[in-house]
Amino acid sequence: MNILITGATSGIGLGLAKNYLADGHKVIAVGRNAKILNELSLLGIYTVELDLVDLDKSREKFQLIAKDFECIDLAILNAGNCEYLDVADFDASLIKRVFDANIISLANSVEGVLPLLRKSKTPHLVGVASMSLYLPLSRAEAYGASKAAANYMLETLAIDLAPDKILVTVVNPGFVKTPLTAKNDFPMPFALEVDRAVAIIKQGISNKKIEIHFPYKLTLIIKFLSLLPRSWWRVLGQKFKK
Ligand SMILES: NC(=O)c1ccc[n+]([C@@H]2O[C@H](COP(=O)([O-])OP(=O)(O)OC[C@H]3O[C@@H](n4cnc5c(N)ncnc54)[C@H](OP(=O)(O)O)[C@@H]3O)[C@@H](O)[C@H]2O)c1
Repeated sequence: MNILITGATSGIGLGLAKNYLADGHKVIAVGRNAKILNELSLLGIYTVELDLVDLDKSREKFQLIAKDFECIDLAILNAGNCEYLDVADFDASLIKRVFDANIISLANSVEGVLPLLRKSKTPHLVGVASMSLYLPLSRAEAYGASKAAANYMLETLAIDLAPDKILVTVVNPGFVKTPLTAKNDFPMPFALEVDRAVAIIKQGISNKKIEIHFPYKLTLIIKFLSLLPRSWWRVLGQKFKK
């Protein structure tokens, strides 16, 4: 398979890129970190240095990918970032940064990869959102909202791409130990190592699941809590504050 992975220079995306390469697939890694991209290229991965927030650059780079690859069979759109908001110092520029990283980069990737997915016999589009979209969580005004938007975009694409036979999967992880969560200053229940998260995501992809969420112990609790009346969550949400 030809597999394109965004956010392939760190954490979950890096783990997926190396793992799919080891399975013998052709991997196209997209990221910004030139040093890591160079290391990946030495391993035999096709690398693309790109800030996915920049639409013009993204169009340019996807045209180059289209010259080198007839099709993409699996696109894992995983690039993203997390910043928490301090409501005492509400900073709208933080909201923009997080939406750029999580939504604009997703939209730019979808635009770039769709024509190549359409050329595959078994096209599969996978987007990484987060379990934070199930419930409003303290300080996640930017991150949670951007991941809820990513989930909505992906679920809508699932409907609109069904006639093209493009399967869409949403990945909603709980906590995974990566550079993104290393800066978290609060407990991360049931946090998984990257290798475990990669194995779960790969399994879900090969089983063609439409949603991959993990670790179950956490995501099932959060999904259950999300069924509570909104007024209950307004009270309970206070207990989940750092
Ligand atoms: N870790 C968790 O607990 C967790 C939980 C739920 C959801 N997620 C989601 O999972 C995804 C991967 O997270 P992670 O924990 O593996 O984070 P990470 O280690 O920080 O990796 C993030 C990746 O995204 C790339 N990226 C960010 N902005 C980009 C941009 N504008 N253009 C191109 N690449 C960009 C980074 O590239 P460079 O390093 O090259 O800049 C990096 O490769 C994210 O979407 C995150 O929100 C993670």
